[in-house]
Amino acid sequence: MASPLCFISLILPLAVICACCPSRTAAIRFETKADAALVQSICKESQDPDFCNRTLAVDPRVAAASMDGLAMLSISLTIDQLQTTSDNIASILGQTSDPVGRQRLGVCRTDYKDALGQFRRASSSSDARAYWDVIDRVRDGTNKVIDCENIYKRDPISVSPITTDNHNVIKLSELTLIIVDKILPH
Ligand SMILES: *[C@@H]1O[C@H](CO)[C@@H](O)[C@H](O)[C@H]1NC(C)=O
Repeated sequence: MASPLCFISLILPLAVICACCPSRTAAIRFETKADAALVQSICKESQDPDFCNRTLAVDPRVAAASMDGLAMLSISLTIDQLQTTSDNIASILGQTSDPVGRQRLGVCRTDYKDALGQFRRASSSSDARAYWDVIDRVRDGTNKVIDCENIYKRDPISVSPITTDNHNVIKLSELTLIIVDKILPH
């Protein structure tokens, strides 16, 4: 258990740093924009605020993130989801014998591979603060996932076994676009 003394010894050097370098602290305050209120405003703008609460808002990296950091974080959450879904597709494919089902999962597998490529490039562009490029990559990557969702709406219509995963990607993409929209000048 941490003693109060230990806590004070951690806080004290920080207080000294803050007292000695007021301009540096101002700079930190300026860059650390991702406070809880800002993240809540992002979540409220999204189509599923509860989903935003459960994904972006609860991420421990949010507290220290700048706006640019938030964009990177939402892209990295999307990449994690794409990888999870790709694993799901592989495992469902292993249990599927009907030819239409297999064919559709095969299309989704390719869609997700392409989407992963787009989102990895979106991540590099975000790192370079090339936000117009981020928008293009996110849109192209998300369209691949929408294609995977839509093939199940063709005859014979069936429910996609990965519809929840698809919608998670779409919702995470939306969060990235909301964040990027706040970064770009209007
Ligand atoms: C999201 O979390 C915030 C803060 O905890 C809360 O005020 C808000 O009601 C939540 N929204 C939803 C839709 O759960």
